[in-house]
Amino acid sequence: MINWLKDAVFYEIYPQSFKDTNGDGIGDLNGIIEKLDYIRDLGANALWINPCFDSPFMDAGYDVRDYKKVAPRYGTNEDLIRLFEEAHKKGIKVLLDLVPGHTSDQHPWFLESKKAEENEYSGRYVWTTHAFEGIGGHPYISGMSERAGAYMLNFFASQPALNYGWLNRTEHWMSAPDSPEALATQEAMKDVMRFWMDRGCDGFRVDMADSLVKNDDENKSATAAVWRSVREMMDRDYPQCALVSEWSNPWQAINGGGFHMDFYLDHHGNGYNTLLRDYETGGEDRSFFKKDSGGDIMRFLNDYLPRYEATRENGYISMFTCNHDTPRPARTLSEDEMKLFCAFLLTMPGVPFIYYGDEIGMRYLDVKTKEGGYQRTGSRTPMQWDHTRNYGFSDGDPADLYLPQDERKEAPTAEDAMKRPDSLWHVIQELIRIRRTYPDLQADGSFETVYAESGKYPFVYRRGDMIMAVNPSGQEVTVRSVQFSGRSPLYTIGKASVHDDLLTIDTQSFVILR
Ligand code: GLC
Ligand code: CA
Repeated sequence: MINWLKDAVFYEIYPQSFKDTNGDGIGDLNGIIEKLDYIRDLGANALWINPCFDSPFMDAGYDVRDYKKVAPRYGTNEDLIRLFEEAHKKGIKVLLDLVPGHTSDQHPWFLESKKAEENEYSGRYVWTTHAFEGIGGHPYISGMSERAGAYMLNFFASQPALNYGWLNRTEHWMSAPDSPEALATQEAMKDVMRFWMDRGCDGFRVDMADSLVKNDDENKSATAAVWRSVREMMDRDYPQCALVSEWSNPWQAINGGGFHMDFYLDHHGNGYNTLLRDYETGGEDRSFFKKDSGGDIMRFLNDYLPRYEATRENGYISMFTCNHDTPRPARTLSEDEMKLFCAFLLTMPGVPFIYYGDEIGMRYLDVKTKEGGYQRTGSRTPMQWDHTRNYGFSDGDPADLYLPQDERKEAPTAEDAMKRPDSLWHVIQELIRIRRTYPDLQADGSFETVYAESGKYPFVYRRGDMIMAVNPSGQEVTVRSVQFSGRSPLYTIGKASVHDDLLTIDTQSFVILR
């Protein structure tokens, strides 16, 4: 395993909304460089930056037009290389976002692929032979090219699927995963990865990592095989570079594909979802960290533990506060509730991710869709740094901002959060500091449940020599365990005490016992 991942805490940056340095209303790479000290002071030591490559921005940059060129609105390739260098000087790693499953329909490969004459890129994307022939149950477009055929979509209409072949082939136009054209796509993607790793990036977050080989088997074994060959290349040539998958199936992604980490995504009803976003069904919020929701920690553990047990030798599960696709936690959680969730997140195994702005409790805003964001747009608004113009995000005209900002008087800012000693920001900072100090609390430390009962509080878990207890409910609770004897609180949110084997933990409290 890569050493630096053991105590890594990631900070996700949506580049268009982090910090604008030239007044055009859009965040840029120089802005990220300017704020590296802020990130380091919070305690994060690694970044994931959403796609910052040349793009027509039909899907906020997940529609790449040139993988090897920084989008001019963010800066230049030199700026990105300088960002790697400056981050490294401060002990911060940088992951870029790799979009391997599709490109923009404006990508030169696709423009060539659309041509009637056979050329190097004819097989780079998934095409049928005839314009009047569809792609089974998959979305496709026809009638848009001189080439006779329909092309498959991987996501939006602007995102044609790259061709990594089909495992189960039912049509003559379906390439095999080891066909020359499918292998050429793999090689092209490895070339993109090498390009940025050679220039100093520390790895990639991989977009829709499970989407490569079509009609794959139920274990996604053909797609996993592509990633294993990528991992071999990395182990050989870039052994310090890391890969994290957007897959949410660690058996397939970590054990099968060789990813170092796999995101535990917010999928309705899964373990992660029950922690803080279990509010899609019938209006009742049953999230565990929501005070008095009647949340049930077993709904998390029953889903999480098998994932964890099956993969802990091979890689890490990554939980996050939020990401650019998910409603911000502050949509439903109060600052006190968020503190308890973050305390849990930062004392669990695996590698945690914090989404920019969540550390200050930025709200999920009701804003008009932008660049294919739709309901995701509300989590993508510009960072609120201070109370100067545009909350310190940009000195441009407010009308030019990438997205509108929180207009309330009490809108949180980083400046206020850093000034207030009991803020969520300081809780996160202190918990990261503690995590850094005690290897038991880091990615590899063991995990076992001490007290977890359906519908009851607190939830108590042990990591090596440390015991954590969290009580998100509105009642003081007690629990006995011989494991508490002789221990005392190392860190507390709210109130908690131990007498012999009895732990008493106040309403909405968290404690680390040592
Ligand atoms: C992933 C990204 C999302 C994007 C989609 C298509 O889910 O996180 O933002 O729209 O893939 O690339
Ligand atoms: Ca700018």
